[in-house]
Order: sequence, then C-alpha cells, then structure tokens
Amino acid sequence: MHQESYNDRVVRQFTLATVFWGVVGMAVGVLIAAQLLWPALNFDLPWLTYSRLRPLHTNAVIFAFGGSALMGTSFYIVQRTCHVRLFSDRLASLVFWGWQTVIVAVAITLPLGITQSKEYAEAEWPIDVLITLVWVAYAVVFFGTIAQRRVRHIYVANWFYAAFIITVAVLHIFNNLVIPAGLWKSYPIYSGVVDGMVQWWYGHNAVGFFLTAGFLGMMYYFVPKQANRPIYSYRLSIVHFWALISVYMWAGPHHLHYTSLPDWAQSLGMVFSLILLAPSWGGMINGVMTLSGAWHKLRTDPILKFMIVSLSFYGMSTFEGPMMSIKTVNALSHYTDWTIGHVHSGALGWVAMISIGSIYALLPRLYGREQMHSVPAIDLHFWVSTIGVVLYIASMWIAGVMQGLMWRATNDDGTLSYSFIESLEATYPYYAIRLLGGALFLAGMGIMVWNCYRTIRAGSAETPVAVMPASSTT
Ligand code: HEM
Ligand code: HEM
Repeated sequence: MHQESYNDRVVRQFTLATVFWGVVGMAVGVLIAAQLLWPALNFDLPWLTYSRLRPLHTNAVIFAFGGSALMGTSFYIVQRTCHVRLFSDRLASLVFWGWQTVIVAVAITLPLGITQSKEYAEAEWPIDVLITLVWVAYAVVFFGTIAQRRVRHIYVANWFYAAFIITVAVLHIFNNLVIPAGLWKSYPIYSGVVDGMVQWWYGHNAVGFFLTAGFLGMMYYFVPKQANRPIYSYRLSIVHFWALISVYMWAGPHHLHYTSLPDWAQSLGMVFSLILLAPSWGGMINGVMTLSGAWHKLRTDPILKFMIVSLSFYGMSTFEGPMMSIKTVNALSHYTDWTIGHVHSGALGWVAMISIGSIYALLPRLYGREQMHSVPAIDLHFWVSTIGVVLYIASMWIAGVMQGLMWRATNDDGTLSYSFIESLEATYPYYAIRLLGGALFLAGMGIMVWNCYRTIRAGSAETPVAVMPASSTT
C-alpha cells in the first residue's frame, strides 16, 4: 500500500535549518578571521578564544550547514526518484530533531573547552553515541525508501548519497573508538602514529564523502533539473562514482607527509591523490557538460550560475589538491595559509555554492511558488558571494606561498632569513582581504535569508502537498 503524497515537511525543516546554520557557521568564520587580524577580539573570555571558536566554525559549517543540506536534499531526491514516500515519517522526524540536538550539544560543549582534540571529530563520546543513533535512523529511512521504490532503476544521485551515508558511518565509528574517563573526557584506543593515521583516514574521507560524495548527489539531481536537460553522460556518472569511492579511501596519508608515518605509506597517499584527479574531473565534466546546448540559460538564470560556478570551483580544488599532495609541493604548502585557501575553494566555492543553488531551486517548490520571490536578489547574491570567494582564496594563496618561501629562506651562513613574527606581519594585509571576502560571502547569505523569508511568506497559505506519479516507470 502506497501513501499518496511525499513527506516534504522534513525537507522543509532541513532546508530552513541549512540556511540558519549557514549564517551561524559563516558568522563564526568571519569572527575568527577578524580575530586573526585583531586578537583582542576574544575579549579575554575563554569561550571566545580562537582555539575554541575555530572548531565551532568547522563543525557548524560542515555538520550543521552541510549536514542539514545533505539530509534535506537526500530526503527530497530519494522520494522523487523512487516515486515513493519516505520509509517512515516518525523516523525522519527523529533524524531532524536528533541532528539538531547533536548540533546544539556541539555548539555548547566546544566553547566550554570540552573536546577530543581530533580535527572534525571534536565532539566528546556522549555526543558521538547520539550521532551514531541518529545516523542509523537516517540510514534506515534512506535505504528503507530505496527498498520500497516503485521504479526499478536507482538514479545515480542516490548512489552518491548512499556512499556518503555508509562511509561516514564507518569513519565515525572507527575514528571515535575511545575509552571514557568521565562524562566529558575520553582517550582514544589508538596511540602515536596509528592514531594520526586513523584520524587522517577519517579526516580525508570526511572531505571525500561528507564534503564531496553527498554534494555530488545534490549536483546530479539539481543541475539537470535546473538546466532542464538530461545528465550529459549516464555512463560517465557510473564510472566516476566507482572510481571516486574506491580511490578516495587511500589518499589520507597526504595529510601526514614528512611525519613519522612510514615513507611508503606517505608515497601511497600521494599516488592515490594524483589518481583522484581523474574521477573528480569526470564528475565536474559531467555536470558542466549537462549544459551543452543550453549555455544561453546562464545569461538569465542565476541559480544555474551558482551551480556551474560551484562545479568550476570543484574542478579547481580537485586539481589543486593532487598538486599539494606531491611531497615536494607539500613541503612548501603544509602549515601555511595555502591549505586554508584550498579548503575554502572547496568549502565555499563548491560545497556552499552548490547548496545555495540547490536551495534556491528547491525552496519555491516546497512552498508552492513558481520561483523565488526575487530573481535579481539571487543574481546579486551570486555576484557578492563569487567576489567573496575569490578574495578569500586568492589572498590565502598569496599569503601561503609567501609564508612557505619566507620560512625556508636562509642566509649564506645557514641562519634563517626571517623570524616567524616577520612572516606574520607580512601576512596581515592578506588576513584583511580574507576578512573582507568572508564578510561579503556572509552578506550574500543575508540576502538569501531575506529572499527565502519573502518567498515563504508569499507562498500558498495551505502547505502544498506534492502528489507522486500514479504509475511507476522502469
Ligand atoms: C582530488 C581531490 C583532493 C585532493 C587530492 C586533496 C588534497 C589535499 C591536500 C594534499 C591537502 C593538504 C594536506 C596538508 O598539507 O596538511 C588538503 C587539505 C584539505 N583539503 Fe583537500 N584535496 C582534494 C579536494 C578537496 C575538496 C573538494 C575539499 C572540500 C570540499 C577539500 C578539503 C580539504 C580540507 C578541509 C583540508 C584541510 C585538512 C586539515 O588539515 O584540516 N579538499 N587536501
Ligand atoms: C563566510 C565564510 C567563511 C569564513 C570567513 C571562514 C573563515 C575561516 C577561518 C578564518 C578559518 C581558520 C583558518 C586558520 O586557522 O588559519 C577557517 C577554517 C576552516 N573553514 Fe572556514 N570560513 C567560511 C566558510 C566555511 C565553509 C562554508 C566551510 C565548509 C563547508 C568552511 C570550512 C572550514 C574548514 C574545514 C576549516 C579548517 C581548515 C584547516 O584546518 O585546514 N569554512 N575558516
């Protein structure tokens, strides 16, 4: 027995949460960018120190903003592509509220200084247990819906979301195996370089599966929809899917170059990172080429602009990443702001922009409107945020290469040419430019909030009910 309509309530909740957490996470990003320029901005309050706010920023943007975007869009897409309502409304609601509880718990504990000190896995063990429970519920809803589908074929977007859900579960569990020493303190079961390797196996695949695979799922649904064209090559999407997920797993050691990790493992990580360029670009090309024959739409549709520019940033960061994984290049880039530039060309350019584009495409449908309240405001948002990203990443690239070169410069007698403080002083102007770029990106989010608010307010008074197609297709 099939119910007649889709469950869009939970999608609406996640969509609003995405916008909300996007603003919060990016506002904290702007604050820490300002603190790097003016350290006094911590006001000597422990919970406002850079060291506590930085992980708050990364958790808020990755798990609260990115996570809500991924869960919301996956619930929307899996219903549309399987022609069936979500497996369980109650579980879906539990996923939403459970995930929001996790976010709030993290947002309280991190500023209090409660942390496992593992990057991107800072939350202490009680929160990790909650994450595991919510994730299992998420997996049951997603895979349960796929199992009940009325369409034989499983659309490729679902493959990417499925890989994201399964892999993040495995990563989360193994990287968080700890021995509790109290409610808010624990010790990892791993030690030394093994701890380092497990952490960066996790960290890199968090990039690969949280910040990439899931968002590729979003891309595979919303780009063809918005362009009103079929995906460029279905075959390429399958090849690039299998290549991407099998190669990503092995690239983690590039985070540990020149450490006590065995040299062969570092080289293995480097080689797999170089290979990773191919499947990554397969995905980018597939997305961009979906527009072939419809390029003119870019002139009038700012949502498509968001999507295509995000794919360009995806291509750029997945070219840059393999280059940075080459040991000799990493000897220059590691510890410098070059890494921060790379991170944000992926995080702001790719992750945030594909999410923003997808939400602009999704929100009117969720609230029974033809389109967003103001299309010119989307265009303005596009330009403000694009200029913001470019200022952010260009300033960090220049600062990073400069730092790397200053740190390695030596005088004829072998002493260092520059002290660390001199390199810091030279970096200040670039920190100011980054702050401006970040503030612009945040301002763009402000425009989005206004536009979403007006769209929702002007939507039909009755919450629209999306009815699924009567007959299934194969
Ligand atoms: C082919 C794809 C990619 C490769 C081979 C790659 C490679 C690298 C390398 C070599 C580093 C520097 C490691 C270090 O010196 O410590 C790095 C850092 C990082 N990359 Fe990528 N990257 C790729 C794509 C991406 C994308 C698309 C994103 C974001 C969406 C991203 C996010 C990050 C993050 C967050 C870090 C910093 C990790 C940390 O130290 O905290 N990367 N990546
Ligand atoms: C207004 C937008 C943003 C601003 C101003 C901003 C600013 C910053 C700053 C100042 C840092 C610390 C850099 C350092 O320690 O030197 C940082 C780190 C980071 N941010 Fe953002 N950020 C923004 C948006 C985002 C978004 C949307 C994401 C992810 C989707 C993201 C992911 C990260 C990550 C992963 C790191 C850690 C990088 C590393 O350890 O190498 N940021 N951000």
